[in-house]
Amino acid sequence: MLEVRNVRHVYPNGYQALSDVSLTIEDGEVAAIIGRSGAGKSTLLRCINGMERAASGSIRIDGVDVVGAHGEALRQIQTKVGFIWQEYNLVERLSVMNNVLSGRLGHRQDLGSALFHFDRFDREVAVHSLERVNMLHRAQFRADRLSGGEKQRVSIARTLAQRPRVILADEPVASLDPELSEQVISDLVHAARDEGVPTLINLHDVELAVQFCDRICAIAQGVVVYDGPPSGLTDEVLNRTYRFDREWKSYTRGIIEEASAMVAAAYVRADSLERDAELVRGARP
Ligand SMILES: Nc1ncnc2c1ncn2[C@@H]1O[C@H](COP(=O)(O)OP(=O)(O)O)[C@@H](O)[C@H]1O
Ligand SMILES: [Mg+2]
Repeated sequence: MLEVRNVRHVYPNGYQALSDVSLTIEDGEVAAIIGRSGAGKSTLLRCINGMERAASGSIRIDGVDVVGAHGEALRQIQTKVGFIWQEYNLVERLSVMNNVLSGRLGHRQDLGSALFHFDRFDREVAVHSLERVNMLHRAQFRADRLSGGEKQRVSIARTLAQRPRVILADEPVASLDPELSEQVISDLVHAARDEGVPTLINLHDVELAVQFCDRICAIAQGVVVYDGPPSGLTDEVLNRTYRFDREWKSYTRGIIEEASAMVAAAYVRADSLERDAELVRGARP
């Protein structure tokens, strides 16, 4: 289980990217994080895997605290967090199999794995992970020969081989065309559910999020503005998530319009009073 409680994050330049974020993701639950560019989605994922340290609040993976962990304790936690990047981060000149096996490195202390002598168990885990994303037939290909969609499926397999206790994916399909995107998200979601791993996917494509994820967490300006089922994603929620400043602008525009209408009305009234007075004067003999 992943528990994020009242997390605030401040960058060294003083910018507060997350204000007070709380989320709990159960084992096997897949949540999409949606929100505008700059909302704080990547910052949240980086805080969860300890690449950024939250200024306050707590983050627990199976009860183990990330925020207070340092050195070897933090490294141990990071071996349990699978991270899937937009740009795959494969070693291009290595085979698909060796890329997936590299997901096992965190489980090994000896030099053997550094030289790519993995044992039978590691190889079985890697084969199983490649099967999960239908990429076993490419096991001996060099990574640089794969298409974008295949590369991302291999990077998912590498993450699965890690046997993580949390999966975080930061815009995993932003570089892929729509049809491939669906396939990759579908593979990722099904694998995460089957393995029972709590999973967070940053997605700018709301339709994909609604179609495949169990839950949607919407973030705006470092604050969770919606957390619930895809069915609850109403226009009002989407406005809060994506169009809050437009609402603000139309609100201020409304006030200005109203004020100028009042001023105009006051002029009209003053004008008509003037005319009334003239009429009264004119009516006088
Ligand atoms: N290293 C940094 N230093 C200062 N501000 C940053 C840094 N990284 C990101 N930010 C700012 O934090 C906010 C959230 O960024 P990010 O989490 O990358 O947003 P998202 O992933 O939702 O697009 C943005 O305003 C961004 O400019
Ligand atoms: Mg981002």
